[in-house]
Amino acid sequence: MKINENYLNLKDSYLFATVGRKTAAYKAAHPEKDVIRLSIGDVTRPLAPAVIEAMHKAVDDMSRAETFHGYGPDQYCYGYDVLIDSIKGSYAKKGVTLSSSEVFISDGAKSDCGNILDIFSEDNVVLVPDPVYPVYLDTNIMAGRKVIFADATKENGFLPMPDESVRADIIYICSPNNPTGAAYTIEQLKKWVAYAKKMDAVILYDAAYEYFVDDTVHARSIYQVEGAKECAIELCSYSKTAGFTGVRCGYTIVPEALIRGGHSLNRLWARRQSTKFNGVSYITQMGAAAVFTEEGERQIRENIDYYRRNAKTIADCLDELGIWYTGGKHSPYIWLKCPDGMDSWTFFDYLLENANVVGTPGSGFGKNGEGFFRLTAFGTHENTERACARIKALLKK
Ligand code: MLT
Repeated sequence: MKINENYLNLKDSYLFATVGRKTAAYKAAHPEKDVIRLSIGDVTRPLAPAVIEAMHKAVDDMSRAETFHGYGPDQYCYGYDVLIDSIKGSYAKKGVTLSSSEVFISDGAKSDCGNILDIFSEDNVVLVPDPVYPVYLDTNIMAGRKVIFADATKENGFLPMPDESVRADIIYICSPNNPTGAAYTIEQLKKWVAYAKKMDAVILYDAAYEYFVDDTVHARSIYQVEGAKECAIELCSYSKTAGFTGVRCGYTIVPEALIRGGHSLNRLWARRQSTKFNGVSYITQMGAAAVFTEEGERQIRENIDYYRRNAKTIADCLDELGIWYTGGKHSPYIWLKCPDGMDSWTFFDYLLENANVVGTPGSGFGKNGEGFFRLTAFGTHENTERACARIKALLKK
């Protein structure tokens, strides 16, 4: 027996696990301290009433033989029509037409980000931005793939553009971006689509934060770019859109037009999912199907506005302190320059110990994140205000 030695090439713990462990150690040593977490992007608003109502009804369905559901329908890898249709409807509002066979229901974007790699050969070269959501990098290290980086820096607004002298087969794009909050415009994405086509590469586009885009210039889906269906898979989630971090539901779009090596990636993915996945629970899918109803959408937008208000509170605080930051506009993340030239982990400790506020060190997302720090707007408004008051008191000169 041999283990997968690629695992030995990973950092010894997942970034948010390290942050969690350090926070827990501080709290154990200082039980009297009231620590506020603005670190992991976990939501705090409850599920929308329309979602709760749909889930209650689904629970009742499960209690009667006539309306009980076992495995989901296998036609679309266990996704129910009502949910698939609502996702298609939400894409139609962005000007994107999808067929039902292109929509795969998942238990969230993080799982599918890792799972989708099953359908790609291990000798593909993977291009990820730096800084990067650690899942893109770690899942490829686990598979032993060669990973190269596109530098996202203050100078390019944390939005790297393609470099035609670099060869890549799998390209990760997350927009609005985790961790930097920077968002690509549809015009900018056209260049990535052209590059991917030239390389015969596939873009894995993570749209988990698309509901935070608040204009029509920035992209909400890569398929807003013409021709993207021939080169991109899109991953999305109800976690940040509708507060499903604890419920687990998302969707992955694999277009029928996506062919590589003469094979349909849609078919390969359907084959993978029907073999290794048994679908998302009926109750969860019925709740998710309520998200894009008129009532559901109005309610989730209220929650998004609530988080936007938090982002503004953090931005105002940093403005007052004269600290450089980006994000927060089309995104729930604020990406700031650590004050006084501190490195990311030094600032993490400084903030934790002196303001009892937890954020995420930028260097945990890659070398270009060194000297930067991420705060999330997903906390409660009360905690966000309290955290900002403490940060101001600590850093005001
Ligand atoms: C984050 O804080 O980056 C996210 O919550 C991670 C995730 O969505 O998995």
